[in-house]
Amino acid sequence: MAQSHRFWNWIARRYARMPIRDQASYREKLDRTQAVLQSDWDVLEFGCGTGTTALEHAPHVAEIRGIDSAPKMIEICRERAAAAGCANASFDLAAIDRLDQPDSSLDAVLGMSILHLVDDRDAVIANVFRMLRPGGAFISSTICLEGQARLFRQVILPIGNFLGVLPRIHAFSRTNLIAAFEAAGYEIEENWQPDEDPMKAVFVIARKPA
Ligand SMILES: C[S@@+](CC[C@H](N)C(=O)[O-])C[C@H]1O[C@@H](n2cnc3c(N)ncnc32)[C@H](O)[C@@H]1O
Repeated sequence: MAQSHRFWNWIARRYARMPIRDQASYREKLDRTQAVLQSDWDVLEFGCGTGTTALEHAPHVAEIRGIDSAPKMIEICRERAAAAGCANASFDLAAIDRLDQPDSSLDAVLGMSILHLVDDRDAVIANVFRMLRPGGAFISSTICLEGQARLFRQVILPIGNFLGVLPRIHAFSRTNLIAAFEAAGYEIEENWQPDEDPMKAVFVIARKPA
């Protein structure tokens, strides 16, 4: 956790300047998310990074709160929210693993490019389920690397992680990810991988039954 926090702090300003690699898929995910969000909803985004996605969704919901465990990411989010004059988005330094959020208190939770980074993915999925009200939605986008990119996973990633220039990434399959949502009690509404390309993140809309 501390190691991951150091990596994301170190890269935050560069991350903020990086262009989104696959704009079409990103836009499609925003659209699919906004088709679910409602104007009176309270939304949490964890691992919100530089706040780009939260600020995109802010005009479509009542409140959106972004949390991230890297202080520099939160600094950037707050700068961006102020520059955009966005009054219904707030950003706090917090880790999803330790977030003290009341039961059934949220309409939607977003976790974009994060479930493959947390140490206990299934605990996070279960904790989000607890936070959502019945009928609420967990919307996520996750790299599923099991069986893919062996050189990257087995050689480059461990070395990069040891040197502190790459984060720790957990490898699991798309099937395993979906099974984890179902085991926690969610109903899967969308399970979409752009272009069916195994190197692209899997977008999931998982609903807590009403
Ligand atoms: C790959 S970036 C994704 C950022 C953003 N969601 C996006 O899609 O561009 C992962 C982010 O998750 C944050 N993070 C990692 N582990 C976390 C945790 N346990 N709780 C909250 N944030 C975490 C990192 O600091 C980083 O900003």
